[in-house]
Amino acid sequence: MSQTIRWGILGTGAIAHKFAEAMGFVPDGEIVAVGSRAQHTADAFGDEFSVPRRHASYPALVEDPEVDAIYVSSPHPMHHDNTLLCLNADKAVLCEKPFALNAREAESMIQCARDRGLFLMEAMWTRYLPAIAQVRRWLAEDAIGEVRNMMADFGFRANFNPEGRLLNPVLGGGALLDIGVYIVSLASMVYRAQPVQVAALADIGTTGVDEQTTMAFRYGSGAMASLACAVRTDTPRDVRILGTRGSIHVPAPFYDAQIATLNAGGEDPVTVQPDRVENGFKYEIEEAGRCLREGLLESPALPLDETLAIMRTLDAVRAEIGLKYPMEA
Ligand SMILES: NC(=O)c1ccc[n+]([C@@H]2O[C@H](COP(=O)([O-])OP(=O)(O)OC[C@H]3O[C@@H](n4cnc5c(N)ncnc54)[C@H](OP(=O)(O)O)[C@@H]3O)[C@@H](O)[C@H]2O)c1
Repeated sequence: MSQTIRWGILGTGAIAHKFAEAMGFVPDGEIVAVGSRAQHTADAFGDEFSVPRRHASYPALVEDPEVDAIYVSSPHPMHHDNTLLCLNADKAVLCEKPFALNAREAESMIQCARDRGLFLMEAMWTRYLPAIAQVRRWLAEDAIGEVRNMMADFGFRANFNPEGRLLNPVLGGGALLDIGVYIVSLASMVYRAQPVQVAALADIGTTGVDEQTTMAFRYGSGAMASLACAVRTDTPRDVRILGTRGSIHVPAPFYDAQIATLNAGGEDPVTVQPDRVENGFKYEIEEAGRCLREGLLESPALPLDETLAIMRTLDAVRAEIGLKYPMEA
């Protein structure tokens, strides 16, 4: 793999724009190509971000010999097919969250990458933020003792648009898959395990997807997690991790964390505010680039087996709330 990773972007929606902006902060990465379902949208994106190679289809993008790795930024029901398209053309893939619609799809994506010896990573950008990396270090150092509980929420009030990605079942709408995945992934990072017992309640709205979901997880050790997500309700969006000797607080917005505070039994609180750039996608892009240059096939900070385990937990929550997508019938 060359020193500078040559990226292609699959899909030209909202989050592809944020990814392209972040590339400006990544010294050893560049966007050389974009693929869209139409020439005019590929050209518009190419003009906006000075991307030289513009493809009018995803198959044309994946066949581009100038591209090392592809960022899949289509809606989640398309992640499976779009990722397989890239892998089968021998391209490494960074795939947006949620990694897939369900664990069955995730398993097939991971199997394909392993069979072909290609890099694959879930774009769970929060995990790579400097403040969250500090939280991981505190947990690894046992700074708060055994973790017994955590509370996390992620909710915002989106406009009611039944056709849009957030509420449309055909586009994988609903709070759980769109933003619940952040808090389920965070719980997985904190406990380095999946729950042995999952309880959940949801408000299924008129479009047939969850407008809000509240989850309670119990782990093998007896530890618990209380998690809530919503796409029609604003919530505080912070995280508290409670241990036997202290606690960690990541204030809002935890998913784009700027700071984290450690309260370790009886000592003065320690707040860290690592240097970081405004666009937090920089850190996941750098991690993908580092892995590619070092010949790793997955990111040690979020291995593919964990991505798959998180998808299984999301499936378990969906079974609890009775949410099935039309394409899963
Ligand atoms: N990491 C984050 O912070 C973050 C934030 C928001 C969303 N996301 C994730 O990123 C993915 C895309 O979200 P987004 O907000 O960017 O969505 P979006 O604005 O609707 O864009 C999605 C893009 O996917 C392509 N696409 C392919 N098939 C499509 C279809 N049948 N219908 C609509 N678009 C289709 C389109 O690109 P072309 O027209 O160019 O083909 C479209 O512009 C989702 O999985 C979402 O969960 C991540």
